[in-house]
Amino acid sequence: MTTVTLGHDEGLLAPSLRLIATEVDRAFDLLLPEPADGRIKLYQAMRHAAIGGGKRLRPLLVIAAAELFAVPRERAFRAGMAVECIHVHSLIHDDLPCMDDDDLRRGKPTVHCAFDEATAVLAGDSLHALAFELLADPATHPDPSVRAELTLSLARSVGASGMAGGQMLDLMPEPSIGDLEAIARLQRLKTGALIGWCLDAGGALGQAGEEARRSLRGYARCVGLAFQIADDLLDVEGCEAAAGKRLRKDDAAGKPTFVSLLGAPAARAQANLLSSQAIDHLADFGPRADLLRAVARFAVERDR
Ligand code: IPE
Ligand code: IPE
Ligand code: MG
Ligand code: MG
Ligand code: MG
Repeated sequence: MTTVTLGHDEGLLAPSLRLIATEVDRAFDLLLPEPADGRIKLYQAMRHAAIGGGKRLRPLLVIAAAELFAVPRERAFRAGMAVECIHVHSLIHDDLPCMDDDDLRRGKPTVHCAFDEATAVLAGDSLHALAFELLADPATHPDPSVRAELTLSLARSVGASGMAGGQMLDLMPEPSIGDLEAIARLQRLKTGALIGWCLDAGGALGQAGEEARRSLRGYARCVGLAFQIADDLLDVEGCEAAAGKRLRKDDAAGKPTFVSLLGAPAARAQANLLSSQAIDHLADFGPRADLLRAVARFAVERDR
């Protein structure tokens, strides 16, 4: 089992990460029983990708944000499962030969290596659909306008104006990509949009006031970018066994990142600055937001 670098937040964060990992694994196990027909390979591929491994940071963010507004945990958990479905979908597709062409994910062979490319595409598609199925179900929230808001905002975060758009820019950087603003925009789309949704979902589920939701958006904007800079630093400085994926690939693939433009020390300083700016956005919530503060630090201190 990989270990997590937790530093001074160990007390608060470690049990929350362990709990959410167990709950997410159990929920995927129940959601994805293997059928006794020709679709069995598809379900096996979805289970391979979705169960076991992964930090489950996005579901934890939904739950931590929803807790601020006393949202029942099981509602927040359903939204957390939805975003994890999207995230796993994005990882399966990101690893395909036509994208980053990776053979290791979460310490296991990637889906197209363990199965085949067609199955990986379909497993990703099926998890993408499952996310919206989970969200739109009345069990997520009794008020249909809340469910509609969650569904609409997730679609926007995942599509061409969010994650998929960012993935496109990541594959085909614009000529102006040499400047930091352009890289930040790419990363805000490919990683930040989905992380942003997690925080906004907490506010939507809790029908929170505009001021609180604005603070959470500010936090998410900083954490989302810090998280991707930390991922790019991991690619350069991390250990494959801990990260559970291939590293030292971004440079060879010509990926424009904060690290490629600024160098690792300045990129790390930028990630740390964003993490502390994220925490500043939580001032009005007091100690109830301590878990979100711990996540902001973990986002940049992690080794996986
Ligand atoms: C990896 O995400 C892909 C990025 C958006 C950087 P995570 O680092 O959250 O991956 P898991 O879920 O822990 O495997
Ligand atoms: C992936 O970014 C972002 C999404 C999956 C949307 P990376 O390509 O840097 O993620 P890793 O390093 O493969 O986890
Ligand atoms: Mg990629
Ligand atoms: Mg990748
Ligand atoms: Mg990466």
